[in-house]
Amino acid sequence: MAKTITDIRDILPDPEYVRIFDTTLRDGEQSPGCTMNVEEKLAIARQLERLGVDIIEGGFAASSPGDFESVHRIAEAVTRPTVVSLSRTREEDVDAALRAVDRAANPGIHIFIATSDIHLKYKLNMTREDVLSASTWAVARAKQHLDYIEFSCEDASRSDWDFMAKICAEVIRAGARIVNLPDTTGHAIPEEFGEMFSYMRRNVEGADRVIWSAHCHNDLGLAVANSLAAIKNGARQVECTVNGIGERAGNTSMEEVVMALRTRKDLMAVRTGIDTRQIYPASRLLSQIIGQPVPPNKPIVGDNAFAHEAGIHQDGVLKYKLTYEIMKPEDVGIPSNKLVLGKHSGRHAFVNRLEELGVDAAAVDLNKAFAAFKVLCDKKKIVYDDDILALVNEEARRTADHFELVDVRVTSSVRITPHAEVTMRMGGGEERVAEASGDGMVDACYKAIYKLVGVQPALERYSVKAITGGTDALGEVSCLVRADGMTVAGQGAHSDIVMASALALVNALNRLHGRAAAAARRPAEGP
Ligand code: KIV
Ligand code: ZN
Repeated sequence: MAKTITDIRDILPDPEYVRIFDTTLRDGEQSPGCTMNVEEKLAIARQLERLGVDIIEGGFAASSPGDFESVHRIAEAVTRPTVVSLSRTREEDVDAALRAVDRAANPGIHIFIATSDIHLKYKLNMTREDVLSASTWAVARAKQHLDYIEFSCEDASRSDWDFMAKICAEVIRAGARIVNLPDTTGHAIPEEFGEMFSYMRRNVEGADRVIWSAHCHNDLGLAVANSLAAIKNGARQVECTVNGIGERAGNTSMEEVVMALRTRKDLMAVRTGIDTRQIYPASRLLSQIIGQPVPPNKPIVGDNAFAHEAGIHQDGVLKYKLTYEIMKPEDVGIPSNKLVLGKHSGRHAFVNRLEELGVDAAAVDLNKAFAAFKVLCDKKKIVYDDDILALVNEEARRTADHFELVDVRVTSSVRITPHAEVTMRMGGGEERVAEASGDGMVDACYKAIYKLVGVQPALERYSVKAITGGTDALGEVSCLVRADGMTVAGQGAHSDIVMASALALVNALNRLHGRAAAAARRPAEGP
């Protein structure tokens, strides 16, 4: 039974607390190449719980059966954060969202509709009166079932402030507890965005009975700055994603906004409930799952975020760290010593290390993962944290797949055309073999796989990264493939680059297969 909310203090006991609303699994997942399957979303949700986020937006339940299932499973899997589903103001959306969170310890719904004239005219074909009545209707409907209702004015930063104030007052009267003002197009500048929050808090009737929330996109690189401006003007919730993933240029980056608040508390006397030592594990886990490397210069979690290259900086840091360091790497969970285990390490040390890296050992097939770790130890003298993460994610990717890569044999020399023979199993059936020649070993191998699966998607991106140094390093391949209007990412990790490439393609093909099956069950319409 959900907790009854009688007063804003039930969800914001401390007025200086800023709630972290994580939308990695909804807004983040919406961006090309960031799609995740249910198991992957569960792994992220568990890490978000460890991280200490207050709210997890698990998805948009009405958009597809796959999204519904994800929200439902996440709602069952986590206990401390509130789990919400996105919903339009339509009856079928509200009802699906409510059903999806019905098993959550702390369920909630996030209802949105656009409020800018440009969206009303060209997207919704609705009048302001229509939008007002749809909003209050949807909030009132949800209110019959639960107390935790967030309402968002989509494209708030380009909406008329007085019209928006009217809608906000009405949805508060109907029972909304959180009012979110998104900068949907990433168009706002910090001063005006902050002023919008100040205006709403001064002019909306009932403004002091709700939590004001900011949701920013990063089209002008200002998402974090705009979120901070909103907080300075009274917002007590920020919506963000791990690594800042999201539509177009992304959403507010969770790690950046959290660390900005923590590092500059001299200017902003607020706090969050985030265990910052879980930031780096969360960033790595997401990057491994979606196959999007974190740029080296990404604040907080990039490889270079704490690296001092210039001699004058190194000299200063050696004398006194704070000369050039405003945060400590260990505060965000970056392991001080990335060299961890070797062939003599036991299962206990392996499991301990997994947990330190933010991996939920209970969700991993430890026998398989430990066996794979031992094989890797035989190949490599030194096994690093990133090797371990890659290996565990590779095992997770291989379970419950439709296409299974059994073997790859390649021959190549400067005198002969590269040739590949690939063995695969489809849907648990008989092994099948195909051969092909190509411009290189990877090309030959991909052609053989296309023959076996009977589709040839467009390969939009292919990249190889040595996870750690040395010629014996695990190679991590990420690819982005497109077929039937769907774009999916695939990842593979192996000490043999051709094998890693084949695993990445097969992983992408499995995702395509899963999404095509879900789409066949019910066509989806996004927000
Ligand atoms: O960017 C946006 O406006 C959104 C809403 C659905 C909250 O993601
Ligand atoms: Zn958004």
